[in-house]
Amino acid sequence: MGKDNQTCVTEIQLLGFSDFQSLQVLPFVLVFTFYLMALVGNILILIITIIDSVLQTPMYFFLRNLSFLEICYTSVTLPKMLVNLVSETQTISFAGCGAQMCFFILFGITECCLLSVMAYDRYVAICHPLQYTLSMNQIVCAWMAAGSWIVGILVGFGHTISIFTLPFCGSNRINHFFCDVFPVLRLVSIDTHKNEAAVTTTTVLFILAPFLLILLSYGLIISTILKMPSAEGRHKAFSTCSSHLIVVSLFYGTGTFIYMQPSSEQSQGSNRFLSLVYTVLTPTFNPIIYSLRNKEIRCALRKTIGRKMFSQVTSMG
Ligand SMILES: *[C@@H]1O[C@H](CO)[C@@H](O)[C@H](O)[C@H]1NC(C)=O
Repeated sequence: MGKDNQTCVTEIQLLGFSDFQSLQVLPFVLVFTFYLMALVGNILILIITIIDSVLQTPMYFFLRNLSFLEICYTSVTLPKMLVNLVSETQTISFAGCGAQMCFFILFGITECCLLSVMAYDRYVAICHPLQYTLSMNQIVCAWMAAGSWIVGILVGFGHTISIFTLPFCGSNRINHFFCDVFPVLRLVSIDTHKNEAAVTTTTVLFILAPFLLILLSYGLIISTILKMPSAEGRHKAFSTCSSHLIVVSLFYGTGTFIYMQPSSEQSQGSNRFLSLVYTVLTPTFNPIIYSLRNKEIRCALRKTIGRKMFSQVTSMG
């Protein structure tokens, strides 16, 4: 029994990009660019939703929370990925791998919950506008955001503890960019069918349930929008919702595809690249999709940046 708890592996090799040994400049430049875009975009949203007085509504409170979350989420995997792309050895310490998995799950699950909270917020705003200010008050909003974080923390720590207390005594090579759940489970030296089943079950619960909630919210929203008398109102409601829907489908589409199939059947190559969608692409495009399609954010950005430039010009003169 004592022998089982022993850790044999002290370092894990991440061989995600090893097929590109000869052209590592290209993946580096791509990942770096996307990471930079994700940081800049999300920080801009963070700042603008804090300082602009028009953006003090529940929708922007959740958007601010989402941007903060996206910054954390990308910073769990991408910086290490970048370091590994330029260094000779592509390793991560055993503890580092555990921490990476823990926070990756934590932020990922929180994002699922937060996206469904945002869908619910839109549902109340569009389908029950008269009750909106009453039912989406500050306390309710704070608790819904906090709830998402609590679920994320519980699932993240729960999964990581249950996996990293298993014996790791065989191979230490992962054919992936970071310590994602299924690639790490493959290193465990005992039969992991039970753990895979546990991961898949929680996935169904905490990814699919928010997803169904989102679908339900948008179904109700769309049917309400279609019944609206004015074309202008229809257009406005549609434009905020369509951006949410794009983000949601990207994130859930790829995530569900990967986590719903048992690891033994996963073809590693294609999954590796699909996982780039939810680790790199979605967090980068989230702020762009939300802000470029949103008139209020565009206005706020123009105001803030315009004011900055104006004060610079006047201080120079
Ligand atoms: C996100 O929501 C939580 C819970 O309500 C809150 O404590 C936190 O300050 C929020 N974060 C941001 C950046 O708004």
